[in-house]
Amino acid sequence: MSSDVVALFDRLASSYDSVLPFFASFGRLTADRLPAPAPGDRLLDVGAGRGAVAFAARSRGYTVTATDAAPAMVALLRPELDAHVMYAASLDFPDGTFDVVTAGLVVHLLDDPAAMVSEVRRVLKPGGLFAFTVPGRVPEGFEFADGANELFAAFSVHLPPGGGMGAPFDELEALAGFTDVTETDLRVELPVGDAGTLWEWFQTHGSRKFFDDLPPVRRDEFRRRLLDDLNRRDRIVLRRYAWLYTGRSSPLTNVMPTGVDRN
Ligand SMILES: C[S@@+](CC[C@H](N)C(=O)[O-])C[C@H]1O[C@@H](n2cnc3c(N)ncnc32)[C@H](O)[C@@H]1O
Repeated sequence: MSSDVVALFDRLASSYDSVLPFFASFGRLTADRLPAPAPGDRLLDVGAGRGAVAFAARSRGYTVTATDAAPAMVALLRPELDAHVMYAASLDFPDGTFDVVTAGLVVHLLDDPAAMVSEVRRVLKPGGLFAFTVPGRVPEGFEFADGANELFAAFSVHLPPGGGMGAPFDELEALAGFTDVTETDLRVELPVGDAGTLWEWFQTHGSRKFFDDLPPVRRDEFRRRLLDDLNRRDRIVLRRYAWLYTGRSSPLTNVMPTGVDRN
């Protein structure tokens, strides 16, 4: 499964985030909420894609390293960024290397998020910050400005068994053992020129898998119903949210090998 997800993003790399600056906007919001770096503070961005978080964090003054499992994504980050092909659950860095680790809209795509979190904890310096975003539940008071989510729910019955990406994952449980845990919802609203542009946007990131997995006749029907919905609206707006979670690695636990009695 994980290799399917990576292959999808590898294929989409050249069009990813090029139709609307969706991921770039969430990346900026995420980086804006990081603490101001001390000189030389090192940040690792895992699952960096086209660098939405990584470039924004560099603008804030962090010394940034980016990793992604999709070689085509990494090729597009180089040489501007120090970028490496690496799976999130197997980070080839020594223990305690980074002051901050970020992961923008990637943890929910992983087969084994716990393995990634354990690697993040290992490469963070004691007391270092982990910040990640995921789609998660609809925040209170949030309203979608298009009917795509209802269509995704309605059409999911036409998917072959075993479709989808990622594994069930409880964000706060994943941060067990981290301190100063926070949860914040981030919101993005982007004007969209026409209905076809929003359809095209859905084809350039993870939702593409949904459409690739649908029988062609159902895919055409989804497109027609989405465009009808959008064309009935006065203006077309892409309004979405993401949840930002942050936590600090415990100064004690992440330097102690498992099983060592601290007393
Ligand atoms: C939705 S994109 C997010 C990219 C970027 N963080 C952003 O905010 O635009 C997910 C990224 O995770 C990468 N990815 C998926 N599975 C991965 C894995 N197991 N290890 C590392 N990267 C992975 C994909 O190649 C893709 O670039």
